[in-house]
Amino acid sequence: MKKFGFIIHPLELNDLARKFPFSSKVPDSILEKIIRYLPQVKASHVTGLSSKGGSEAEGWLVGCTLTAEQMLTMPTKKVLKQIINACKKAERLGARIIGLGAYTSIVGDGGVTIAKNLNVPVTTGNSYTVATAIEAIRLAAKKLELNLQESNLVVIGATGSIGKACTKLLVKEVNNLTLVARNEIKLKEFTDSLKKLNDGQNINYSTDINGVLPKADIVITVSSAIDAIIDAKNLKSGSIVCDVARPRDVAKQVSKNRSDVLVIEGGLVKVPGEVELNFNFGLPPRTVYACMAETMILALEGRYENYTLGKDVSLHKVKEIQALAQKHGFKLAGLRYSEKEVSEERFKQVRQAVSST
Ligand SMILES: NC(=O)c1ccc[n+]([C@@H]2O[C@H](COP(=O)([O-])OP(=O)(O)OC[C@H]3O[C@@H](n4cnc5c(N)ncnc54)[C@H](OP(=O)(O)O)[C@@H]3O)[C@@H](O)[C@H]2O)c1
Repeated sequence: MKKFGFIIHPLELNDLARKFPFSSKVPDSILEKIIRYLPQVKASHVTGLSSKGGSEAEGWLVGCTLTAEQMLTMPTKKVLKQIINACKKAERLGARIIGLGAYTSIVGDGGVTIAKNLNVPVTTGNSYTVATAIEAIRLAAKKLELNLQESNLVVIGATGSIGKACTKLLVKEVNNLTLVARNEIKLKEFTDSLKKLNDGQNINYSTDINGVLPKADIVITVSSAIDAIIDAKNLKSGSIVCDVARPRDVAKQVSKNRSDVLVIEGGLVKVPGEVELNFNFGLPPRTVYACMAETMILALEGRYENYTLGKDVSLHKVKEIQALAQKHGFKLAGLRYSEKEVSEERFKQVRQAVSST
């Protein structure tokens, strides 16, 4: 039996109630202080994972109690110490490889320091996250009969680990590409390097999200912002928005108020076998985030090695993990948003909007 660990944490204070029901009765200001000092805990035992080829694995979800905001605002050293402690707990439980969920891979250097402090290897899960985000975009474009080449693609969070790799993989397939983030220096550097390698292509950058959205046919949004950064009113009618970020970049009302826009979640994966996570992520049965799926795939394959580490995702690994996912029976969990599969009716509405633009 292969063994893995995966580190989780509450994105916001409300999420704590999934493991600690009492927390919903504690005022936020007090809860925020308490969770800085809570020990890292085993959140669940994952059972029943078996691949298409017959290999089996079990795992442990270990919880770090800090929220996304705390991970970004507390001193990095303190946050890393808590994440390393959570990983050590997974190590003691028997994990032979550990995946870093949500902000535990964002804080600091993308897992490098964490890996140096452990006896077992680590992966951020970002390679498979990139692969599934692109697969979801291609599938959505096909459903809407939208020609990728003729589309204006906007990548938000384009200088980040996932955004950069998505951009590099799609740059040759679109005529117009706009990169968005806050730091203009990094944006310019990345844009210049892309232009050098892709002569003649129209590649721009901007720090103004609202300024670029009205012209975007396809948006991949994968920022590390704590709050929603995409507002319904700025989206082009007939556009596709693939939201890979957790917490989400797309404001909740977009899906409700804009029936002419297709919002999908990137990075959701259907797992083979009768897997029981024994933890409520608010996802359908046997469905996990791609970063967790990457950890499971590496365990099933017996690839106990530091896989996706640091801020630069290797495009070779994106392809490799996609092939391994196929081999073990993992696949994209369809096109979903807000805990539901996108309905045929919705595709029809957005297709109509595309044809009238
Ligand atoms: N679905 C999944 O399975 C899965 C797996 C892994 C990660 N994720 C999620 O993916 C997201 C990104 O992860 P990552 O590892 O790529 O993070 P990262 O390397 O830290 O990159 C974050 C990017 O977002 C930009 N950014 C941050 N705040 C912004 C804002 N307010 N407006 C515009 N851009 C902003 C950053 O650039 P500037 O600082 O210059 O703005 C950077 O380009 C996170 O939400 C994470 O939880 C999802």
